[in-house]
Amino acid sequence: MNQKHHDKVAIITGGAAGIGRAFALRLAAEGATVLIVDRAPGDDVVSEIKAAHGHAASYQCDVSNPADVKSLAANILSAFGRCDVLVNNAGIFPSCPFEDLTFEQWREMIAVNLDSVFLMSKQFVPGMRLRKWGRVINLTSNSYAQVAPGLTHYIASKAGVIGFTRALASEVGADGVTVNAIAPGFTRTPGTLARKPNFSGLTSEQLFEVQASRQAIPRPSKPDDLAGALSFLASDDAAFFTAQTLYVDGGQVRSG
Ligand SMILES: NC(=O)c1ccc[n+]([C@@H]2O[C@H](COP(=O)([O-])OP(=O)(O)OC[C@H]3O[C@@H](n4cnc5c(N)ncnc54)[C@H](O)[C@@H]3O)[C@@H](O)[C@H]2O)c1
Repeated sequence: MNQKHHDKVAIITGGAAGIGRAFALRLAAEGATVLIVDRAPGDDVVSEIKAAHGHAASYQCDVSNPADVKSLAANILSAFGRCDVLVNNAGIFPSCPFEDLTFEQWREMIAVNLDSVFLMSKQFVPGMRLRKWGRVINLTSNSYAQVAPGLTHYIASKAGVIGFTRALASEVGADGVTVNAIAPGFTRTPGTLARKPNFSGLTSEQLFEVQASRQAIPRPSKPDDLAGALSFLASDDAAFFTAQTLYVDGGQVRSG
């Protein structure tokens, strides 16, 4: 692997598992110091990175909790001095028919998937602007552009992520900070494997196949399929690329 992220400090929320774990391994392999921020322990991923002679640390934190995020930022800034790449990946995706959805479920979804993006960006974007270099990469979902019953709260949160991405990009672009989103398709992770059969009654394994059959590249998505896009967005090569949503879903959603 080349070391194109050498000297960069990258925070990856939700980096203990799934897509975030693949992102952490990729950026570390390309030279970044990777800080895993997750409400679950990230020690296994840190050990894997260190065993490959990379640099990593992990922090346990609920990124939807303002007090937790504030003290996290103080700890990270005192230990590492800065954050160059912020990957807002932590998310939840329980489905629920709209008629059964409670306000508490709605609030939890918005808190974890959207408030967290605001809270983390508030802490780390000002330093990027001062240093005239930064990358914010937010995880949305290709379900935003699809028929997806049972996901009003999820899709509202991920649409919010796209709106936040575009709006923040226009405020910070002059300071060398780019803000983009990645929209995966249905990807094999601990989270999707644990989901309950949805309205169609399909298990996750069946749904991987159904979704794959709707893609231009007809095979199920895995976390590593998303890591190249992340690496590009985090790099100097992407300096003129901002306010965009990259659909990395095997061509299931065709934009343009
Ligand atoms: N897997 C997919 O099919 C898919 C598709 C589209 C978008 N996404 C998005 O990609 C992201 C990652 O999904 P995944 O499938 O890897 O999920 P996952 O459930 O496999 O892993 C998510 C990680 O985030 C952590 N996390 C959850 N809530 C948190 C919180 N409040 N604070 C800190 N950490 C928290 C979990 O502990 C876990 O380690 C999510 O934002 C998800 O919405 C996933």
